[in-house]
Amino acid sequence: MSNDARLIAGNEEYSYPVLSGSVGPDVIDIRKLYAQTGMFTYDPGFTSTASCESALTYIDGDEGVLLHRGFSIEELSENSSFMEVSYLLLNGELPSSAELDEFSRTITRHTMLHEQLATFYRGFRRDAHPMAIMCGVVGALSAFYHDSTDISDPVHRKISSHRLIAKMPTIAAMAYKYSVGQPFVYPDNSLSYTGNFLRMTFGVPAEPYVVNPVVEQALDRIFILHADHEQNASTSTVRLAGSSGANPFACIAAGIACLWGPAHGGANEAALNMLKEIGTPDKIPHYIERAKDKNDPFRLMGFGHRVYKNYDPRATVMQKTVREVLTALKVNDPIFEVALQLEEMALNDPYFIEKKLFPNVDFYSGIILSAIGFPTTMFTVLFALARTVGWVAQWNEMISDPGQKIGRPRQLYTGPTAREYVPLDNR
Ligand code: ACO
Repeated sequence: MSNDARLIAGNEEYSYPVLSGSVGPDVIDIRKLYAQTGMFTYDPGFTSTASCESALTYIDGDEGVLLHRGFSIEELSENSSFMEVSYLLLNGELPSSAELDEFSRTITRHTMLHEQLATFYRGFRRDAHPMAIMCGVVGALSAFYHDSTDISDPVHRKISSHRLIAKMPTIAAMAYKYSVGQPFVYPDNSLSYTGNFLRMTFGVPAEPYVVNPVVEQALDRIFILHADHEQNASTSTVRLAGSSGANPFACIAAGIACLWGPAHGGANEAALNMLKEIGTPDKIPHYIERAKDKNDPFRLMGFGHRVYKNYDPRATVMQKTVREVLTALKVNDPIFEVALQLEEMALNDPYFIEKKLFPNVDFYSGIILSAIGFPTTMFTVLFALARTVGWVAQWNEMISDPGQKIGRPRQLYTGPTAREYVPLDNR
């Protein structure tokens, strides 16, 4: 039997090839649909549409599985460093120790920013949201590093990818320093990627900064958990922006803008704010009822996911990491207890069971980040920092694909049909 999918439209029957990936659902190749039938498909939110081929990340949302280049997120977060995962995402294989050293050295060499970029920061109000600063400053990188913006040149693509991964911690730390009125701290290339970021964020020139290894490891793990996540909204934004041939710095700035929203990367900030608002376990039932009320726009932030209809595997690692960090820092945060009880109550509630709503990666991350000392406004910035490697890996994959086309969805038009223009005086 043919493996084609048949479509009957009017009196005609059409046949479309079914393509199989290495794992996961098959896809119906409808590229010829419009030419053959004069019809488009209609799929708001792309709930049933595969927009590209990709060999980077695989998610089985029903089973709660997340693989990068075939390796499980649990194993990577337990055994790898963020640099190692970055190498894996970019190159497809785990590095040897010599390759990892070389890659880390290369990234380290790009951590400084062009000195003139500091003047950009001074143009922002002190109370600017750091994500607003990130969008602006990352977009501005294309004005400083135009020696690496020829996207048809693989060497340019590699250099700008390394620059973005390397400079993001410096940019993020400077956004924080600016908001608290402290001097910018230059990178120290003797430290690890994550240790360096901690020092640039929390260190001050007046005294030495000692990196706490537990905090360093926990933050590095958080970066691993956020490194890539298939064709999510911000990654699709990066791909769409890149499909027109825009330079990588502009594309990543577009991804940052998309990530900012509370339904995506902004959820970690919203989740912690929600937990603080709940405040004590006795108020949980009230908020659960609100989340279930169709007439109330309130949702449990950090709960639910477009793809995971099971526990988000990143949330499991995150919950374990919260315990480690709170114990190591001797922080007794009552909000953690609120989170644990909220999770338990929601997971036993028929509304959340029926709709398959489970905690996602953002539910616990805010508690750790807050214990480390980050203000809530920095949470999405940290997500952007870590996701940059995924964005550049996906962007590189797209540009290297010989079949790549500009992204151009179609629409179901519901506006007025052609009508006669009435001059202003006659209206
Ligand atoms: N609380 C209460 N109800 C929810 C929640 C929630 N957090 N999430 C979904 N629902 C309900 C919806 O009201 C809807 O109910 P209905 O079928 O009766 O209309 C149903 O579950 C399906 O929800 P949709 O919004 O249609 O699902 P979608 O896949 O479009 O949205 C999303 C997924 C945006 C993540 C959603 O679950 C949500 O808003 N969650 C809260 C925000 C959040 O945590 N975002 C982080 C996502 S992970 C990330 O970006 C890293």
